Amino acid sequence: MSHSSETATQDPFKLWKNLLSQPSKSSFYSPNFMKGILAICIFSALPLLYFSANFHGLISRTASCPECSPAFRRQVIHEVVNSGRHDNHQRTNISHILFGIGGSAASWGQRRHYCELWWRPHMHRVFVWLDQKPGDGAPEPWPDTSPPYKVSEDTSRFKYNCGDASRSAVRIARIVKESFELGLKDVRWFVMGDDDTVFFTENLVNVLRKYDHNEMYYIGGHSESVEQVLTHSYSMGYGGGGFAISYPLAAELVRILDGCIDRYADFYGSDEKISGCMSEIGVPLTKELGFHQMDIQGDPYGLLSAHPLAPLVSLHHLDNIQPLFPDITRIDSVKKLIKAYESDPSRALQHTFCYDMSRNWSVSVSWGYTVQLYPFLVTGKVLSIPLRTFSTWRTLSQEPFTFDTRVMSSDPCERPVVFYFDGVKDVRNQKTLTSYKRVIDPNMGMRCEREDYTAAYLVKGFNVLAANLDPRVWNKAPRRQRCELMNGSDQQDGVLHIKII
Ligand SMILES: *[C@@H]1O[C@H](CO)[C@@H](O)[C@H](O)[C@H]1NC(C)=O
Ligand SMILES: *[C@@H]1O[C@H](CO)[C@@H](O)[C@H](O)[C@H]1NC(C)=O
Ligand SMILES: *[C@@H]1O[C@H](CO)[C@@H](O)[C@H](O)[C@H]1NC(C)=O
Repeated sequence: MSHSSETATQDPFKLWKNLLSQPSKSSFYSPNFMKGILAICIFSALPLLYFSANFHGLISRTASCPECSPAFRRQVIHEVVNSGRHDNHQRTNISHILFGIGGSAASWGQRRHYCELWWRPHMHRVFVWLDQKPGDGAPEPWPDTSPPYKVSEDTSRFKYNCGDASRSAVRIARIVKESFELGLKDVRWFVMGDDDTVFFTENLVNVLRKYDHNEMYYIGGHSESVEQVLTHSYSMGYGGGGFAISYPLAAELVRILDGCIDRYADFYGSDEKISGCMSEIGVPLTKELGFHQMDIQGDPYGLLSAHPLAPLVSLHHLDNIQPLFPDITRIDSVKKLIKAYESDPSRALQHTFCYDMSRNWSVSVSWGYTVQLYPFLVTGKVLSIPLRTFSTWRTLSQEPFTFDTRVMSSDPCERPVVFYFDGVKDVRNQKTLTSYKRVIDPNMGMRCEREDYTAAYLVKGFNVLAANLDPRVWNKAPRRQRCELMNGSDQQDGVLHIKII
């Protein structure tokens, strides 16, 4: 590459240096002109800076509140750094996480089933935060299958100014503060979730392990519906999918949270109020694609059968969407997915494609969930895009979503033949054999009468053999796994065999 002026203008840093150091060829962007602009910006911004610092309580509070003094902050930072130092070399494990679940006494009786699916006593440190003591609504005595509860502090002194929406957002936003103030030992991460969030905690630990808990991290995911991110934000961790806050960031957040709650009184949700605070601290959201807010309506099939290349961390809104598997209850459908997840956590929902070139068949596997068979060739690009079997969250529109989608055709000759996860058949030598069974959806009773489909309909199921996926793959550059179809393996019993390699 030559050092032509054209190359220089493509590099903003070089451009800036050139403008300031060289007599410019262009009179319009001359150095003096630029300096003038800079001066105008700085001077006109000064009152604004003062105003905004004061507004955010930074100036007045430094003077008035001892906890906000630089000395106190230095002490907190010192303690944080030292508390982490002695076990820095220890990998993060499940006991380093403190979960805070936003619940309410009235709804716990129903919602507890989702939390009870993933919570393991003696293993997961979880508190369910209620608006009042159990009794009115919440089961009495408190079930020992539910994590222990705490009753949140009274929040009536805070402002909430978002129309008819629920004031409980204030209480739930403060869960992270109340959790922090419990002062429990060896907490590296505070993870917030809703009472209808299901966490896949082994994968959560593996995701958090990638990040240094002594740094300030805010980790989570987006909404799926564009209408939601336009109303709420692109830059927040959506609370239903859950988000994680590292200890030093929580320390900083706790310091300013009550002020944020009043400053962002017109923000709808607790997660939004937290994200307001994060903007003030200056810590952006680190996005992880396995947190699922599930702001969709209808059948989650298309989304879960084309999961992004990331470990499955959470699912939410399971009461609102259709069951994950047809013909069973919502709770049982989640239990079924958890069965697969438990036998090989990192691999849950991981996507692979393989082809039978002797018949021109394309097969797409979402491990532990579904196998799709197309009796024709479909490119990898197309297979990787979720089929739109769902609509947007609020307006039930067909689109748009915050990821690519493709139309689920109403023509049976364009649809995949679908097989659902049926169970774990065998586990040995770090390998898992899972089976998938054809489910004839009564709503899609139409058959394609074309010859290639007739052959595909003869397949009764799939057996998928895979070596357990080492979670350390997630620390490497992501790459989809490959699979191999045992040609003609279905000739005897109608079951096709797949090996993931
Ligand atoms: C997690 O790591 C800590 C050390 O930081 C250790 O004391 C504890 O036993 C570990 N817990 C589990 C469940 O492995
Ligand atoms: C598979 O597809 C190729 C190219 O589309 C075609 O030439 C070939 O005849 C097909 N084979 C079978 C068995 O259908
Ligand atoms: C299946 O058949 C194709 C083409 O006929 C061949 O390239 C491939 O290696 C075969 N796969 C197996 C696992 O036998």
